[in-house]
Amino acid sequence: MPENKIWKKTIELNLEIPAEGSIYGDHVSEMEAVMRGVLDRIDRLRMDMRDNLGFDPVDHCLARIKSDRSMREKCRRKGLPETSDSALFEIRDAIGIRIVCAFLNDVYTFRNYLAEFDDYEIVEEKDYIKHAKANGYRSCHIILRVRGTYYVELQLRTISMDTWAALEHKIHYKKDFHNDKLIVSELKRCADELASTDISMQTLRDMITSIT
Ligand code: GTP
Ligand code: MG
Repeated sequence: MPENKIWKKTIELNLEIPAEGSIYGDHVSEMEAVMRGVLDRIDRLRMDMRDNLGFDPVDHCLARIKSDRSMREKCRRKGLPETSDSALFEIRDAIGIRIVCAFLNDVYTFRNYLAEFDDYEIVEEKDYIKHAKANGYRSCHIILRVRGTYYVELQLRTISMDTWAALEHKIHYKKDFHNDKLIVSELKRCADELASTDISMQTLRDMITSIT
């Protein structure tokens, strides 16, 4: 049977509710609905592009609602009270979606597509692709406000950017290497090489598309 909802495989709901109650109060089911709504729209473009291009432009897409424990930790770290107001309206990544595209241009195709909906408003954008972070991290981050209430953080990146971020995260997790100049500069070099490969792969795809 054809699978027509790609996002079914992508949601991570880590919603063990502690004895003292969820920091999200009674908003959880609405947050899930908002997340599914964004995923449905992503799926729609993804399937249209798959039909037109002959391949799926998205390598994978992940979605999660930040666990109660991480959200409480983040509130404490930011000096905010552990309330649903802080979790939903001060911190804006309670709902998070990551779209990992095969090719660079498609990152912006998805970004521009999501920006067009009347009930979505981009309230913040950090384009770490055009302006990479000093350590080499690349990704386009947008915060959408959905129907004037809930925020959704979207991270859009290519497979190469995702690979680098995953590896950097693993190394970082083990040890703080910020003062090790060689490691810092090697990581940056890897990020820059991957970025130049992304541009070459995009050029190859454009060449192939113009032939066929
Ligand atoms: P918060 O207040 O914690 O949301 O920080 P911010 O809004 O300044 O963070 P930003 O939007 O820059 O990044 C948020 C997320 O992007 C992180 O939780 C990571 O998932 C990812 N990210 C940002 N920088 C890096 C990086 O240098 N390495 C990796 N591996 N991931 C990063
Ligand atoms: Mg953030």
